[in-house]
Amino acid sequence: MEKLYADIIDSIEDGIVVFDKDFDILLFNQIAEIITGISKSRAMNTKGESLFCDNKRLLDQVKKSLKNGQVFSDYDTDFFRPDGTVAPVSLITSPVLSPEGEYEGTTLLIRDIRRVKELEEDLRRSDSLVSVGVLAAGLAHEIKNPLGGIRGAAQLLQMEVEENKELIEYTSLIVRETDRVTGLIEELLDFANPKSLKKEQVNIHEILDSVIALQSRSEATRETTFVTDYDPSIPPLVGDSDKLAQVLLNIVKNGCEAMDGRGSLKVVTRVVSDFMLNEGPGSRSAMIAVDVIDSGPGISEEAQRMLFTPFYTKKRGGTGLGLAVSHRIVEAHKGYIKVESKEGEGATFSLYLPLR
Ligand SMILES: Nc1ncnc2c1ncn2[C@@H]1O[C@H](COP(=O)(O)OP(=O)(O)OP(=O)(O)O)[C@@H](O)[C@H]1O
Ligand SMILES: [Mg+2]
Repeated sequence: MEKLYADIIDSIEDGIVVFDKDFDILLFNQIAEIITGISKSRAMNTKGESLFCDNKRLLDQVKKSLKNGQVFSDYDTDFFRPDGTVAPVSLITSPVLSPEGEYEGTTLLIRDIRRVKELEEDLRRSDSLVSVGVLAAGLAHEIKNPLGGIRGAAQLLQMEVEENKELIEYTSLIVRETDRVTGLIEELLDFANPKSLKKEQVNIHEILDSVIALQSRSEATRETTFVTDYDPSIPPLVGDSDKLAQVLLNIVKNGCEAMDGRGSLKVVTRVVSDFMLNEGPGSRSAMIAVDVIDSGPGISEEAQRMLFTPFYTKKRGGTGLGLAVSHRIVEAHKGYIKVESKEGEGATFSLYLPLR
């Protein structure tokens, strides 16, 4: 029975910490170790007060609860780990009572809400993208018609001046440039109103291999090292392989461009552990993640907020639509994109896609 209880406590997807009346720790489960970054052995041998000395809100809450045996909740706070990183968590404390109703201590539940935070961020991004998209689509329609007129007129002119080499050059330039703008507008319209997905069984590793093959053949990446680390246990997923290839090519290409043709670009695939994905009771969902890691200059926090906005670009000749369109496509697959980067330390773009 005791082993069963221990197994149950370790497989629960919240961190559980139990304090006795003197603030000593009686129990510290596996998830608590993962979330707090504190080992069980250290936790069991340290007073609660000094163990959580960097986390005043947590301490206050546990103390309050120890004092009057009430339930307290703090749904949104940060946990400061010993290694300096921060984990968004929610905390719930509740009293532990003996069968006789006597107060014996306090249970602290720590829930990792990183995934919730990421979803909130993604939602905020989607909202602003939708309004930009509507505006852009309206504008695009207005521009498309006169462009057709300009192109037609240039072609007529071309026929009139067939003998004059210099003038032909000008008219060809007009046609070429209107075609370029039309292409851009098509892309924008596709972004504002994406065509439905052609769903099929997709082998993500085949897509990645073809994307990397394509990118590594380019003259611009002659000195770039490509490294892959695939999890062979990843099963096929359902999606639109052309669209996913477009997303991955854009992310890989961005990484290469950021490194200016040098450096190393690493692509990793992995199955994401269930515990981070639990969106509520009974809704476990398995996902795969594709990490594209570059060793480029990284992206400032300010720039990170802009990345997915249409037309945000720092490149000459860039459209700034690559990531905006990618976001749309991934959203249609019920997945999401995450960016992690510190200035000067490269960037990691992670693509999350549901398996079922
Ligand atoms: N891996 C990266 N490292 C540093 N900056 C990046 C990275 N990926 C994207 N960016 C920044 O985000 C901007 C927007 O990227 P996005 O793919 O949307 O457009 P683009 O690459 O500029 O244009 P296009 O995709 O049309 O070539 C880039 O111009 C670049 O400044
Ligand atoms: Mg791009």
